[in-house]
Amino acid sequence: MSLFGSSQSPSPERSAESGATGSRFLVLEGIDGAGKTTHLQFLASQLRGAGQSVLITREPGGSPLAESLREIVLHSPMDGLTELLIIFAARRDHLRQTIWPALDRGQWVISDRFTDSTRAYQGTARGLPSSLIEAMAQAVEAEGRGPDHVFYFDLPAEVAAKRRRDRSAGALLAEETDRFDSETIAFFERVRLGYRLAAENRADRQTWIDAQRPVEAIQQDLARLMKPWLPGGSSVPGAASP
Ligand code: TYD
Repeated sequence: MSLFGSSQSPSPERSAESGATGSRFLVLEGIDGAGKTTHLQFLASQLRGAGQSVLITREPGGSPLAESLREIVLHSPMDGLTELLIIFAARRDHLRQTIWPALDRGQWVISDRFTDSTRAYQGTARGLPSSLIEAMAQAVEAEGRGPDHVFYFDLPAEVAAKRRRDRSAGALLAEETDRFDSETIAFFERVRLGYRLAAENRADRQTWIDAQRPVEAIQQDLARLMKPWLPGGSSVPGAASP
C-alpha cells in the first residue's frame, strides 16, 4: 500500500456537502504512539492560521456524558460486548451534543479517534462481529454527517510500544494507564490490520500515513493535502512548502 499515496483532494460534490463554509469533519486514527496528538495539533494550527474555526475533540469522550463513559470504559473491568455498547452510547452523545452542533455552526471538527477505532479494536482485535458493529454504527450515526476524511497513522506495534516506553520514561509525571495499555503486541497488530481494512472501505476519503517517517515530512504532506480544502485553495501560512 502506498504510504502517503492514497491522499485525495475532495471531489466538488463532497465540498458542497461539507456546508457553506467548506468546513470538514476530520478524524485521526492509529495505535497509541503513532503521533496522533502531535499531528492533530498541527492540523488545527494550520486551519486556524487560515482563519478557520476548529473544534478539537476525542473518543471515547467529547461531551460531559461521553467523558464519564470514557472513565468507565478505560478503567472498569468488563467484557468486549459491554465495552462496545458503552463506546457507542458515548459516540451517540458526542455526535448529538458536540460534533453535529459544531458542524452546523460551520466549524471544522477534528476528532482524535472515531468509529474506525471501534472497527479495529472491538472488531478485528477483540473479534466482535462486524455485522453488529455496522448495525450499531448505522443506528448511532446515520441521521447526521459522518467523517469527511480519516487520517490513519500506521506503524508497527513494537515501534509504538517503544515510543510509549520512551515517552513515559521522559515524563515528569507518570502517565495514567488504562485497560488497553496492558494489551499484547499481537493485539495491536490486529488493530493495525483492522485499520487497514477500514481504510480500504473508505476509498478516497482517507490518507494512509507511514508514521515512522520524520514528523516534518508527514506535516509537509498534511499541509499539501489540506491546501485545496481551504478558502480559495490558499496556501497555508506557516506551512512547509511541499
Ligand atoms: P485514547 O485516549 O486515544 O488513548 P491512546 O492514548 O491509547 O491513544 O483512547 C483510549 C483507548 O480507547 C484507546 O486505547 C483505544 C480505545 N478505543 C476503543 O477500543 N474503541 C473505540 O471505539 C475508541 C474510540 C477507543
